[in-house]
Amino acid sequence: MQDRSEGDINFGDARAGWQRGYIDAETQALLDEDARWFLHQALSTPCLNVIERAEGIYLIDTAGRRIMDFHGNTVHQVGYGHPRVIEAVTQQLATLPFSPRRYTNRAAIDLARRLAELAPGQLNKVLFAPSGTAAIGMALKLARHATGRHKTVSMWDAFHGASLDAISIGGEAIFRRDAGPLLPGTEHVPPPALAARFFGDDGRGHERLADYIDYVLDVQGDVAAVIAEPVRWTTLEAPPADFWPRVRASCDRHGALLIFDEIPSCLGRTGTMFACEQVGCVPDMLVLGKGLGGGVFPMAALIAREDLDVAADRALGHYTHEKSSVGCAAALATLDVIRDEDLLRRSRELGAYGLERLRRMESAVAVRGLGLSFGVEVAGSAVAEAAMYRCLTNGLSFKIGGGNVLTLCPPLTITQTELDAAFEVLALSLRGA
Ligand SMILES: Cc1ncc(COP(=O)(O)O)c(C=O)c1O
Repeated sequence: MQDRSEGDINFGDARAGWQRGYIDAETQALLDEDARWFLHQALSTPCLNVIERAEGIYLIDTAGRRIMDFHGNTVHQVGYGHPRVIEAVTQQLATLPFSPRRYTNRAAIDLARRLAELAPGQLNKVLFAPSGTAAIGMALKLARHATGRHKTVSMWDAFHGASLDAISIGGEAIFRRDAGPLLPGTEHVPPPALAARFFGDDGRGHERLADYIDYVLDVQGDVAAVIAEPVRWTTLEAPPADFWPRVRASCDRHGALLIFDEIPSCLGRTGTMFACEQVGCVPDMLVLGKGLGGGVFPMAALIAREDLDVAADRALGHYTHEKSSVGCAAALATLDVIRDEDLLRRSRELGAYGLERLRRMESAVAVRGLGLSFGVEVAGSAVAEAAMYRCLTNGLSFKIGGGNVLTLCPPLTITQTELDAAFEVLALSLRGA
């Protein structure tokens, strides 16, 4: 159950051993206080360490150590504390710190227009939410209203957020097991990453998986939506080029909507503004989150096709911080930075350079890269954990996805020198130093 989970496990010997060697008494006292007051849960409390500051690509812990953050919960496309984001947020705090429902504000309107202009195809109606999970919930509700159906097809091993509706379409045991009854009508299919295992390793596994999805849509006959990440983020696996166009065609044939969850992968992570620009089809709804808030504010967005604007007399996302003036200011500044610092190009170019370097690391079983996001597959979860803790000791933080994939996701503002330094730490750690 632990092996293919969303992140690294916060209980177990590897972590305890690392903490004994690394955490000083003052930090331990804070960690104990944290564990005293927070409800304990997998993947978070008890925590690993305590941080004091964050700047650029770095976290600074209570002992003053600088840690290159290639994890960042994927919120830090523009790094921590980018001056333009801080300035926009500070200005907005001073003039309009909150925007109560029933009113709108300039930042919200500007951000909705900007996202609609950036999104591909007919995706040009927007709704904001204070978390990716909440935006996924809005997408599910809109799919029900738009189609008059409630069923979904999603993928085992997927993660779409931690709420009950999101774990119903998600497929990770750590969220679903023992959770009790989940949403009805949430059909699951194997993920593209397991296509070869379930549908043949003769190179046609994905084709058969796409056929299988078509079959499920056909026998069910009343599926509202297929929902998935175009590129599974924890392991950075993109299916072959013809996979999503096939699923898109099946959705069209069977009257189901296609919803892409790009909560972690949006805004340049993959070298394009949206990952779906690289998978050969446009979904009916696109869900963004994480980095949209500039690494400052919880911001997520649902962008839907204009003709799906069909629920005017229903509440899709009645969230207190829906049109957050501060969150929208942070998002606008983030989009400005991505444009003005040419971060999409940087993501592609530095990403290609980084991938080349990773390919030279002998101890990796496989390496993958899309823009400035990398997946380094190693031989099992014990190897992955050992490498991660060695890296943490040497000042590099990243996530483990799928049990044995080191998922490296730096800010797009990272310099080549910083990337080199991080990969040097990684190479040493993989060699067991
Ligand atoms: C693919 C994906 N979907 C949804 C979510 C949930 O987003 P949030 O934590 O903002 O609710 C995440 C968060 O990790 C994610 O990676």
